[in-house]
Amino acid sequence: MNVRKIKKLFPAKPTLEGAGVRLHRGFGYEEVPLFDPFLLLDDFGSSDPQDYLPGFPWHPHRGIETVTYMIRGRVEHEDSLGNKGVIADGDVQWMTAGSGIIHQEMPQQYRGTSKGFQLWINLPRAKKMMPPRYRGILSKDIPTVERENADVKVIAGNYQGTAGPVADLAVHSVYLDVALRARQTFSCEVPSHHTVFLYVFEGSIVIGDDEVIHESIVVLTLEGSTVSVNTRNEGARFLLIGGEPLGEPVAWRGPIVMNTDEELERAFEEYRNGTFVRG
Ligand code: FE2
Repeated sequence: MNVRKIKKLFPAKPTLEGAGVRLHRGFGYEEVPLFDPFLLLDDFGSSDPQDYLPGFPWHPHRGIETVTYMIRGRVEHEDSLGNKGVIADGDVQWMTAGSGIIHQEMPQQYRGTSKGFQLWINLPRAKKMMPPRYRGILSKDIPTVERENADVKVIAGNYQGTAGPVADLAVHSVYLDVALRARQTFSCEVPSHHTVFLYVFEGSIVIGDDEVIHESIVVLTLEGSTVSVNTRNEGARFLLIGGEPLGEPVAWRGPIVMNTDEELERAFEEYRNGTFVRG
């Protein structure tokens, strides 16, 4: 058993996005290619609706997947495929932009403190121009593995024999939401060479001998076959996300991520002249 150690910690940074949404960015453009195949993790939510109501009006994506997970709150969405709906308390939207999608994501007024995450997963060269695909997963369809030490929601990938509802993944990955009780240990087997990170959003965890990690911090781990996390006197809730690195060049501008600058130019040209969305 080769237990993963901490490679680096990334405190989430206040960031202004969309039409003026105040959120916290765990990692993004500056960190490429450290999190390969992942590009970005945003943590959004607030008790002040002014922080999120401006939303993310119509914008394009190409070459990536965006995964939105709402813990609490509501986001209305609509896209060029004709999908329209609400991502609410515990729901996930797994959107594969592929060759191109234009959508809007508008958080709705919520009483209390809303909380949600958006993860960007890069697509490999061979899949960047695949037909766009949208999957909405309701909270009730996400299995929870209940153990003495923890409750683990399996959104994608596999945990102790339970598979997540998002199958046929473009990139081999795992996405877990772990609620670990106080004074417990959580472990999970992962492929040794995959990129694996944790994002603590409640309480605190301990990794290795002594390192206490509080909420709003991304923990990027070194290679190894096991992730092991402890808690002390308080429990914790964290995302565990892992995936197979692509090892390809990244050409990234705004909401579009390709392999080369020429492909980026073409994408923006097509967006300007109205040919961005295929068929
Ligand atoms: Fe988007």
